[in-house]
Amino acid sequence: MNILIKNSKEIKKIRKSCQLAAEVLEMIDLYIVPGISTEEINNICHNYIVYVQKAKPATLGYKGFPKSICISKNDIVCHGIPNKNEILYDGDIVNIDVTVLYDGYYGDTSKMFFVGENIKDNLKKLCKITQYSLYKAINILKPGIRLYLIGQTIQKYVENKKFSVVRNYCGHGIGKNFHEDPHILHYYDYDNGIVLQNGMIFTIEPMINIGNKDVYVMDDGWTVRTIDKTYSAQYEHTILINNDGCEVLTIRQEEQNNIFK
Ligand code: MF3
Ligand code: CO
Ligand code: CO
Repeated sequence: MNILIKNSKEIKKIRKSCQLAAEVLEMIDLYIVPGISTEEINNICHNYIVYVQKAKPATLGYKGFPKSICISKNDIVCHGIPNKNEILYDGDIVNIDVTVLYDGYYGDTSKMFFVGENIKDNLKKLCKITQYSLYKAINILKPGIRLYLIGQTIQKYVENKKFSVVRNYCGHGIGKNFHEDPHILHYYDYDNGIVLQNGMIFTIEPMINIGNKDVYVMDDGWTVRTIDKTYSAQYEHTILINNDGCEVLTIRQEEQNNIFK
């Protein structure tokens, strides 16, 4: 375990990358309409990151991932590959996960979008609970608390609502590397003794299913689906631990008054 503590110069740069990633999610909102393909969404984000932000889409070529963002709809849990034949339909729920590399540092964030106006109530609820589980965890963050409390907080909240927490993927430290120590579990496993410190930066990115927690990877080597075909939601923020508790580095405008209570 090698948790890198970031200095103020690095924090500034990571904050910049995180804001760029958040802005991609804000920018793409008006394109998420019935009839668009996930490839078209990918291309709009790619061009925005490369030509407007002058940054790099970090997933393009990462361990062979072929596209610039991940798009995961309905029963796809994460790492969905944008494709010209995958069309968004009225009633779909879709996660867009953006990771940007700018000036040597990464920022990583994702959120759910509703396609069209006819979203079933249970799907709206799934998304809301997933987002609140992330916010609940964010609200306990401060130097001195134990890392396992993040996962415990998320799991308690989510299971109380009768949804399930995916175990196979977790949050991660981030900075000069896309993924670095520590692993951030979204459920309780055991207390590994790690304590949060000033200057730590990591993601929290719970994946929550309506049905069973179990998932599998498709033959394309990336796309993760629920085994029972129930729908899944995910929200992700990159977060700095500081003397105030924490700073949500990938915060979007719409969230400014929602996260901290
Ligand atoms: N952005 C994802 C994360 O939150 C990782 C995607 S890796 C990819 O960690 F290769 F699938 F793009
Ligand atoms: Co991440
Ligand atoms: Co991500």
